[in-house]
Amino acid sequence: MKRISRRDYLKTIGAGGAALAASGINVACNARQPEQSAERPSVSEPVGFNTPPNRPDRIAWWNQARFGMFIHFGLYSVHARHEWAMELEGIPVLEYMKLGKRFDPKPGFARAWARLAKQAGMKYMVMTTKHHEGFCNFSTDLTTYCAPKQAPGRDLVKEYVEAVREEGLRVGFYYSLMDWHHPDGARCATDPAARQRFVAYTHGLVRNIMSQYGKIDVLWYDVDWPLSAEGWQSHKMNRMVFDLQPEIIVNNRNGLPGDFSTPEQHVGGPLKKGDTRGWETCMTMNDSWGFNKGDDNWKSPKTVLRDLIHCAQGGGNYLLNIGPMEDGSIPGPSVQILTAVGKWMEKHGDTIYGAERCQVTDSAYAAFTRKGNTLYMHVDFWPGDWVAIGGLRTKVNSARILTTGQPMKVEQTEFQAKFTGLPARSPDELATVLEIECDSEPVQDTLWERINKPRDGV
Ligand code: GLC
Repeated sequence: MKRISRRDYLKTIGAGGAALAASGINVACNARQPEQSAERPSVSEPVGFNTPPNRPDRIAWWNQARFGMFIHFGLYSVHARHEWAMELEGIPVLEYMKLGKRFDPKPGFARAWARLAKQAGMKYMVMTTKHHEGFCNFSTDLTTYCAPKQAPGRDLVKEYVEAVREEGLRVGFYYSLMDWHHPDGARCATDPAARQRFVAYTHGLVRNIMSQYGKIDVLWYDVDWPLSAEGWQSHKMNRMVFDLQPEIIVNNRNGLPGDFSTPEQHVGGPLKKGDTRGWETCMTMNDSWGFNKGDDNWKSPKTVLRDLIHCAQGGGNYLLNIGPMEDGSIPGPSVQILTAVGKWMEKHGDTIYGAERCQVTDSAYAAFTRKGNTLYMHVDFWPGDWVAIGGLRTKVNSARILTTGQPMKVEQTEFQAKFTGLPARSPDELATVLEIECDSEPVQDTLWERINKPRDGV
């Protein structure tokens, strides 16, 4: 049987909105799909408040960080069939709510997350405070559907914040605007009174998470269905957020551009010249965000690392997800992947942290990052005892294998930079890094090479 994808599901909802529109009911705020806001590439600032103009200062740490941990944790972790199960399995709300009576994360659950994040070389974490299911992991007076008033009997967000800070990492909160639990969550699209109530509820919850835990570094909104920025009063909401957290950065999923874009499940970028907004690819290690016990489609550590390197190459960040189990423990394959990546980061992290947009991109076996005039060639498919870069238009001064410290010989023409004297086997099984010192910022022009390289032999 064909499984309905989230995208198809949302399209169905969109079609419903269109039908309402045809019937003359005002759905001006309705029928927008989250993908639109997730991908909105806009560089121009909107009319009205978006975020404060001191973005370069606020986002500086994040541009250094490049690698963060995403955590999806909620009642769906107990259900163990993906975070969209409530809708995709058509579960009645009252039945789903029973999970709140079972959810009971073990003591210290967040410490293990933060320790693993640190060990993996991640610099910040973003945890779901409330996902689409509507359950709040934090304490609030606005609903009883929250961790302190259900089985956990305590504020899980508080424990998370403490654990993240203990490891010296930056603290981020995910918050889903879409809500499948609240009675006004869908009808707010067409009923003005419901909208007023639900927007007040939403702003109230956002106020809770922005004011209860000290300094927060990232606010990560998600899915703005079924309203527009206007309907959510997103300008006002962002203003409140910045009043409470003047140094925070916010993403683009409340219908405004925010401080950074959020390409999902693919590597985004590259950052455009002069763009002060950043971008961050969010990605799962298998095919689910929330714990899904049957999902064994795990990526290899090499694939995960390649994605991280490609993000850094484009001047972007990589937010890699874990979906902890019911008691908060991390699935074994995720631990293995992050441990392997962490080992690599320990040695090569400097080629990722603070990496700037790299113009050199073309190779069949390597990806590149750059810091100033230094080009890092990350060889993930080792070709043998020499490597070469076509169309490198910048003079190379020196080169060495960063992984081993061994120098390499450089032979350079205007069409090719060739590096010889490498071992036959890759010194690092995930990726060996070559450090190439250039005379100026490295530039590659393979089209120039194709046009100008002398041809011969007809
Ligand atoms: C999507 C999904 C959601 C996930 C998020 C992460 O919007 O609906 O389940 O939390 O992406 O980016």
